Amino acid sequence: MQTEIFELSGESGLTDFDKEKLDAAAGYIRKGGLVAFPTETVYGLGGNALDAAASGRIYAAKGRPSDNPLIVHIAKRDKVYGIAENVSETAEKLMDAFWPGPLTLIFRKKEIVPDATTGGLDTVAVRMPADDAALYFIDRAGGFIAAPSANLSGSPSPTRAEHVISDLSGRIDAVIAAGESDIGIESTIVDISGEVPEILRPGFVTPDMIKNTVGAVKLDKGLAPDSDARPRAPGMKYRHYAPKAEMEIVSGEREAVASYINERLREKGETAAVLASSGNLDRYKGGKIKLLSGDGSVSDAARNLYALLRECDEEGVGFIYSESFDGEGMGLALMNRLNKAAGHRVREV
Ligand code: TXA
Ligand code: MG
Repeated sequence: MQTEIFELSGESGLTDFDKEKLDAAAGYIRKGGLVAFPTETVYGLGGNALDAAASGRIYAAKGRPSDNPLIVHIAKRDKVYGIAENVSETAEKLMDAFWPGPLTLIFRKKEIVPDATTGGLDTVAVRMPADDAALYFIDRAGGFIAAPSANLSGSPSPTRAEHVISDLSGRIDAVIAAGESDIGIESTIVDISGEVPEILRPGFVTPDMIKNTVGAVKLDKGLAPDSDARPRAPGMKYRHYAPKAEMEIVSGEREAVASYINERLREKGETAAVLASSGNLDRYKGGKIKLLSGDGSVSDAARNLYALLRECDEEGVGFIYSESFDGEGMGLALMNRLNKAAGHRVREV
């Protein structure tokens, strides 16, 4: 299969030229095909969510286990009532506050959503992304787009069109190319079926932001690395986001972190890389030094993380040492992804 690339203009707001391309891309979806598209979190691999065969093709293209449900993306808020039962007051408040945006909500599903899309669950995950091209494309493609991250199963989520092309070229109909993702890690997933909303996957929308909107929030116990409980989002149990290299997170005082990592760099030379914040760059000697956070912030690290993991793979890096970040606020999401990439290997120094 030849994969068509639709490159958008990059101008702010959609030009007529962009709309023409997005219409052509939407045409593939209406015919049952698969198109990767940009969102503010990561690129998604879209197919018609109401078509079981299209969902089946998504699993096949990614090599994804079919018990791992897909998120349904919508372009207009009121579309949620077409696929979800019992949209609660809590849900309404969260949609008011965070849609369009990086928040996915889990609802009881309506009959119209095929089991193939929800991995056999009787619930459905729904999100309205904050990206003009995505919203236009979803609307033109029929309004309900099932989309996991557009990577091969097991590799880091794509934050640039090139990542999608390198994983999925020849396996899908088209890619809408539109530069780098703003946020860089996947949406916050919240289950609102219980009394207190429960975060199943941390993201840009933090526990405090949810608490401030609806009064209370809890975190799925299965997310803790030392927990015996299974994570409630089926996808969180897989060792995702994983680079080929062996990875370790190094935590402690800056000086101690630098001296531990420098020792490893000395031992391992060019087969090792360090993921560092700008303020620490000149503490490291030897190996490959990668800028994880340009300004030391968590949000910048989130934006760069997956691209750097891919870069390390391409350069044949065998060992990655990452600085650790404060796990508060959005740091919770960043540390969740870093921990998963590292297979939960953390070195306290
Ligand atoms: O930011 C995002 O959410 C991106 C972009 C493309 O929108 N999408 C994304 O999809 O990250 P994916 O398939 O890579 O991750 C979806 C996660 C998986 O962990 C899956 O198990 C969980 O959502 N999920 C989907 N439906 C669910 C449901 N009904 N109940 C519990 N978890 C669900
Ligand atoms: Mg994914």
